[in-house]
Amino acid sequence: MDERINELISDLKTYLEYLKGIGIVSLPSSGMKPEQPPPSQVLTMIDVRKELGDCKRCKLHRTRKTIVFGEGNEKATLMFIGEGPGYDEDVQGKPFVGRAGQLLTKIIESIHLSREEVYIANIIKCRPPQNRNPEPDEIENCNPFLMKQISVIRPKIICALGTFSAQTLLQTETKITALRGKFYDLEGVKVIPTYHPAFLLRNPDKKREVWEDMKKIVELLNNSD
Ligand code: URA
Repeated sequence: MDERINELISDLKTYLEYLKGIGIVSLPSSGMKPEQPPPSQVLTMIDVRKELGDCKRCKLHRTRKTIVFGEGNEKATLMFIGEGPGYDEDVQGKPFVGRAGQLLTKIIESIHLSREEVYIANIIKCRPPQNRNPEPDEIENCNPFLMKQISVIRPKIICALGTFSAQTLLQTETKITALRGKFYDLEGVKVIPTYHPAFLLRNPDKKREVWEDMKKIVELLNNSD
């Protein structure tokens, strides 16, 4: 019986987290109380940052220097999501500022946008030691905040950078070579995976495919309003 109750509580928590994630922060009045003026229901990026606080929800807080929250235009139609901060990002507190970041900046500029016009974030906000892959508990703790950032921005397109980002956002184990270049749905937002800029630094011949993916993004952005 206790187990069933715990399961129900856990399901209810997950559902409430989901509602928060999509911007519903209060439930309708039961009708038993006098009508209250509706609280402001619009979640802002400041709210999300405040809620994250000096996050210690997972073990990465012990080794990180800085939380890399994400940056860019909160009204962006295009959002880029990478894996997690590396050394330079951890030091500067900004996403994609190292060598891979410089290449990402060039990719963004190749479609006549600037970093300030898009929004850039990562699956996790703290650097894993030695840049190892993020672990499931780290992703689980961080994911609600990324989902809230997405719900504040409501981009038309998310470009998932690399295997890790694409597989996490799309909840799949399919390889990036098969995923890239196609649009998928994430709660009404179109997600297009492409290769990670760090991979492109090691495999410059793959830049052509990323360029093809960027053209698809431009086409969809131009045809969706
Ligand atoms: N790689 C990522 O995935 N994210 C960054 O912010 C930097 C490098």
